[in-house]
Amino acid sequence: MIKVWTDAAEAGLLDRYGERGSTFAYLPDTPAARAVSVTMPVRLPSWSVPFGLLPIFEMNLPEGVLRERLRLAFAKATGAFDEFDLLSVVGRSQVGRLRYTGDKEQLHEDVPFQSVDEILEHRRGGGLFRYLLEKFASFSGISGVQPKILVRDENAFAEMENTGHRLSQSYKGATHIVKLWEANEYPQLAANEYFCLTVARKCGLDVPPFRLAEDGMALVIDRFDLRMDGTYRGFEDFCALNARRTDEKYRGSYETSVMKRFAQFANSTHVNEDLDRLFILIALNCALRNGDAHLKNFGIVYDDVQGEGRLAPIYDLVTTSVYLAKDSLALTLNGSTKWPMAKELKKLGETRAGGTPAKIRQTLERIDEAIQATTKEVRSYMKEHQEFAGIGRRMLQEWEIGVRTSLRG
Ligand SMILES: Nc1ncnc2c1ncn2[C@@H]1O[C@H](COP(=O)(O)OP(=O)(O)O)[C@@H](O)[C@H]1O
Ligand SMILES: [Mg+2]
Repeated sequence: MIKVWTDAAEAGLLDRYGERGSTFAYLPDTPAARAVSVTMPVRLPSWSVPFGLLPIFEMNLPEGVLRERLRLAFAKATGAFDEFDLLSVVGRSQVGRLRYTGDKEQLHEDVPFQSVDEILEHRRGGGLFRYLLEKFASFSGISGVQPKILVRDENAFAEMENTGHRLSQSYKGATHIVKLWEANEYPQLAANEYFCLTVARKCGLDVPPFRLAEDGMALVIDRFDLRMDGTYRGFEDFCALNARRTDEKYRGSYETSVMKRFAQFANSTHVNEDLDRLFILIALNCALRNGDAHLKNFGIVYDDVQGEGRLAPIYDLVTTSVYLAKDSLALTLNGSTKWPMAKELKKLGETRAGGTPAKIRQTLERIDEAIQATTKEVRSYMKEHQEFAGIGRRMLQEWEIGVRTSLRG
């Protein structure tokens, strides 16, 4: 049995159910503010699924390399290791405000310290990747296929104390996400993402601070769900909001599964402003030729599960078409996964984000300008980093096509 915590307080119990399913029930007298999701208000009846975990509990389970590593390390003698086992391993340290422990255990987050500067300056040489995965895998309740870990930066901790903010007693959680990549599959992925996020920031979107390691081997990103006092905000991705399982992340449309769903759960006076941002983000994904903008790559953040939800800051932007030449949209737009023409994006902006034609035109121009400005930075990085030259050249080609067809058209 697993105990589920929200905002460091007990909320309910989760257990296996039936042959392969699970069930969750709130503890008696749990206040409404302790609900585990905007989609699951506190109630007496339990919530059950016949297979795996409910979407909100499955949301941060590692996929890919990290999951395989944890399976190898924690599988029992029988070799069995399912989602329930995985959640028991990474449950104490998670993105967002939910935590998981054994039913009789107290919550101890206690992520070990790691110098982020050491990662950025690559002082550990070639073994860094393996060292980090070994040390932090079991503290990394974070989804995604690419290898990544959650770390607690020793300096971030000091900085926060210096700002005079009172740190919560329980402040022992991770502060940063370190994204690594596998050379034979996605070369130069960190630099690729670094420049895509740079474009997003130049478009005026809210992007958390991000830094590229000197040798291009890692991208380090500040957690956007961490508050100044060391506690965490609520975060839910659009798989959870659509009640979909992780393996359904490529199912749905930008119109309904993202924009309409956002408006449904935002419960916010800023909904129009955020729909504007979502539109910019979707158009940006098209221009950058990011074919991986699926349901887990958008999210909402909130301070109060019953209060206002805002569009989460931007994350996971990559020009995927440099690795997969035939890549296309991750979700449908206007019924198709083909890269859209500018006129289709204009229609999306006018019908779903309520923009006037003039405003939508300005938005697309702004993205265009941000890409042109970043192109210069990519070129100068290519000169100093020969190993990036090939991928860099292809990224710029893809951006050029993206801008020409999806923004200018
Ligand atoms: N800056 C951040 N702060 C908090 N959570 C984040 C941040 N960036 C990403 N996440 C969470 O981590 C997950 C994995 O990160 P992502 O960048 O999407 O990795 P991948 O490239 O493997 O998909 C996201 O789906 C989101 O839930
Ligand atoms: Mg992702």
